[in-house]
Amino acid sequence: MTHSPTLLEDGFGRRVDYLRLSVTDRCDFRCTYCMAEDMTFLPRKDVLSFEEIQLVAEAFTSLGVKKIRITGGEPLIRRDIVPLLSKIRKMPRLEELSITTNASHLAQYAKELKDAGVDRINISLDSLKAERFKTLTRHGNLQHVLDGIEEARKYNFKALKLNSVALKNFNFDEVRDLSRYALERDIDISFIEEMPLGEITSHARNIEFVSSAELRQALAPEFQLSPCSDITGGPSKYWQAEGYRSRIGFISPHSENFCASCNRVRLTASGRLLLCLGNEHSVDLRTLIRESEPDQTLSLVKQAIVDAMTIKPEKHHFDLNEAPQVLRFMNATGG
Ligand code: 5AD
Ligand code: SF4
Repeated sequence: MTHSPTLLEDGFGRRVDYLRLSVTDRCDFRCTYCMAEDMTFLPRKDVLSFEEIQLVAEAFTSLGVKKIRITGGEPLIRRDIVPLLSKIRKMPRLEELSITTNASHLAQYAKELKDAGVDRINISLDSLKAERFKTLTRHGNLQHVLDGIEEARKYNFKALKLNSVALKNFNFDEVRDLSRYALERDIDISFIEEMPLGEITSHARNIEFVSSAELRQALAPEFQLSPCSDITGGPSKYWQAEGYRSRIGFISPHSENFCASCNRVRLTASGRLLLCLGNEHSVDLRTLIRESEPDQTLSLVKQAIVDAMTIKPEKHHFDLNEAPQVLRFMNATGG
């Protein structure tokens, strides 16, 4: 007789079947909304090894997690990342492996990612103007990113998608250009309302705030948008632009709270299981892994994950007019 496996469900009846797994907190960019200019990264010994990451992925997939997204920092700067991706993709119950990248190294990696079985790639792109791109990312080279996107388009991934954080005085005037760039390539694009994660110095988040409704207004002169009904399993709400195959999405943590349909948890590069993007509730899986008897580690980690579901908060509370309540930056959270 086969027992049906334990599935993950939180205290609010939400099924959790999606893990965002950060493999490094390091990044070759320093996007102003994501990081402080002068960041201290984790010492290497605090970052989970590939074996430890695999063990956690195995625990989650055996608990019914069907989708894993590899994030960072920038995942493609972790050495030998591709063999890890291949191993995770082969886990028996996994249905989809995706990766979030800044695309700075995508030209070099696109084919290997396809061969490793990566299904989807999310690319962060906030500006199509080279100077501005450099200012926003503090280090980035726009051409490398655009070359990465063109290279990735050759390999027929299930989806390529762009993400843009919308900022009033940085790129609000580019939302039509960014949308056109994506739609003309049959790529979906989502605009994100900036979240107050970590203390930043480059700008005041409340002054830069642009709501998704304002974005749609700015797009209206060029694109005829109608809401799509399809559920994507993510927080993005999509709109169809008439005459195009791909869509424009809006991730609205402030103006349209999406927590009720939350199906995900995050694992930081240091092995902290985060139950919510906007709260500090977490469980330290690294200590458990490193201090347990090897033959018991997997079952202890599985039990810790099941138990953690009871402390998953109902929702995030972001207030741009207050000092951030969540002190970790996005790179330490895992996009
Ligand atoms: N608010 C919203 N989005 C953010 N990202 C990074 N920091 C923030 C923030 N504070 C985005 C990146 C990337 C994704 C992983 O998260 O632009 O697209
Ligand atoms: Fe790096 Fe992404 Fe953060 Fe930019 S947003 S600094 S690309 S992790």
